Amino acid sequence: MYNLLKGKKGIIFGALNEHSIAWKVAEKAHEQGAEFVLTNAPIAMRMGDLKVLAEKTNSQIVPADATSMEDLTNLVEKSIEILGGKIDFVLHSIGMSVNVRKGKHYTDPKYDFTTKGWDVSSVSFHKVMNVLYNKNAMNQWGSIVALTYMAAQRVFPDYNDMADNKAYLESIARSFGYFFGRDHKVRVNTISQSPTPTTAGSGVKGFDGFIEYAEKMSPLGNATASDCADYTISLFSDLTKKVTLQNLFHDGGFSNMGVSDSVLDRFVEDE
Ligand SMILES: NC(=O)c1ccc[n+]([C@@H]2O[C@H](COP(=O)([O-])OP(=O)(O)OC[C@H]3O[C@@H](n4cnc5c(N)ncnc54)[C@H](O)[C@@H]3O)[C@@H](O)[C@H]2O)c1
Repeated sequence: MYNLLKGKKGIIFGALNEHSIAWKVAEKAHEQGAEFVLTNAPIAMRMGDLKVLAEKTNSQIVPADATSMEDLTNLVEKSIEILGGKIDFVLHSIGMSVNVRKGKHYTDPKYDFTTKGWDVSSVSFHKVMNVLYNKNAMNQWGSIVALTYMAAQRVFPDYNDMADNKAYLESIARSFGYFFGRDHKVRVNTISQSPTPTTAGSGVKGFDGFIEYAEKMSPLGNATASDCADYTISLFSDLTKKVTLQNLFHDGGFSNMGVSDSVLDRFVEDE
């Protein structure tokens, strides 16, 4: 190991089970010498295996619903207490669409569901940064990362209202990132990850076909959750201090492709 995060303290949102991207980030952050607090929604505590991860990484758990300012304030205060100092890195790895869950089509959602999904998937990122910024809870040259998907820029019909939520999330990263950079020398970025077989990912209709399509379109193949964790660690490390306000594609090249040979071959008649 390189000890890339030696002495750094963090908060990791969104590890539900061993497939979660946040789970892999926690494992790798631990390997790289970081100390951190794990957090998830109180309801996820009952469903998930977070305790297993906490034992494995020698970390404590502080539950927080990421839509609740009260929970987030408690989380940040407790984390500083537990870790014995201010925070160097934060991972926001949270996403949920009630319309997707309830099978509502994009063209006819239930708008209460739309609002709830937007609050959980997008506004929660603003709320997390609000607490960190106003409590002056981040160390200088700290790093905040949220996970996103390319449906923010291009059409993927079955991604439903999560496409809009991700566009909003990426905009928050830029807008809040400006103030965080100017006032606290903290960087804020989003990583736009390949489709990945996790609980959230597999909730998208036609996911299996889609992940296969992305694999065939990408010159390097899909990025796995473990690959994503490696990239995230690099953004938490001191090797990327001047990267901020960016949406960083981590997708094996998918986002710049038009078509690949192996996809085209399926449409070409034998000559
Ligand atoms: N899986 C993919 O294909 C893929 C691709 C690109 C981006 N992403 C993004 O990666 C992130 C992590 O998702 P994942 O794929 O690891 O799935 P996951 O289901 O393992 O993680 C989603 C997490 O969000 C948490 N969450 C939901 N509501 C919450 C709330 N109110 N407060 C706090 N936490 C809450 C869940 O408990 C869960 O831990 C999400 O932002 C997702 O949109 C996923």
